[in-house]
Amino acid sequence: MTSSLFATSGNPYLKSYRVFLDKSGQTEKINDLLQLHIPSLVPIKALQERSLNILSIGSGNGQTDLSFLRVIKEELIKTDLWRNVKIFNRAIEPNLSSCGLYKAAIENLPSPLDDGKTAFDICQQSLEEYQQSHREPLSFDIVHFIHSIYFVDIEKALLHCFEKELSDKGKIICIAARRDLACSVLSKLQQKLQWHVGSEIYDVVDKMIQIANKNGWKIEVHDQEYSRGL
Ligand SMILES: C[S@@+](CC[C@H](N)C(=O)[O-])C[C@H]1O[C@@H](n2cnc3c(N)ncnc32)[C@H](O)[C@@H]1O
Repeated sequence: MTSSLFATSGNPYLKSYRVFLDKSGQTEKINDLLQLHIPSLVPIKALQERSLNILSIGSGNGQTDLSFLRVIKEELIKTDLWRNVKIFNRAIEPNLSSCGLYKAAIENLPSPLDDGKTAFDICQQSLEEYQQSHREPLSFDIVHFIHSIYFVDIEKALLHCFEKELSDKGKIICIAARRDLACSVLSKLQQKLQWHVGSEIYDVVDKMIQIANKNGWKIEVHDQEYSRGL
């Protein structure tokens, strides 16, 4: 995949996000996590002849979605199921430029996704708007939030996904940063200078674990430590 495919189209938010990704190595770290954990999380062997439905929330320009799909497809190929199983990927992304980049990226899908068995539906809307819209209801085998859970009301979003989007054996996969050094410094400054930023700074992973425990959901947490080099 070339970096020009995910060019930033002059959008300032996307430009700074690109700089962050380049400096942090986050993209490679996400790929490592996906390669390591997706094979055991996704019940590929149970699929047989049907479609695997994936809902990506806060998908950005689609770069991570394509990595996610590539890992799944490679697993399907290993089990020879790729001939029968179609993949449907719905992406929810409010940012217009990101949606444009996503659409451009899927025009020429990289191998092994280029066999006509992967379909996309890109919804240019926020999760909140999506919840109010009347899209064709589907049950998803996987719902994922990759570095996007920070932008929604975590409890409402997870409850919505569990109750309205997930299939019986479906899974929600979230990749999120834990409270890091920068966050702790900010929090200390906040206390010292008595800043009122309007919202508490909390660890979203702890919050998700709390919500899962409260609702009796089964969870797995995998930590990955790396220096973000910023
Ligand atoms: C940090 S980016 C992550 C993008 C992508 N998942 C990735 O890993 O590259 C977070 C994305 O969430 C999107 N977002 C922000 N608020 C959202 C909302 N309310 N509902 C859905 N997506 C949202 C942003 O537009 C942005 O593209």
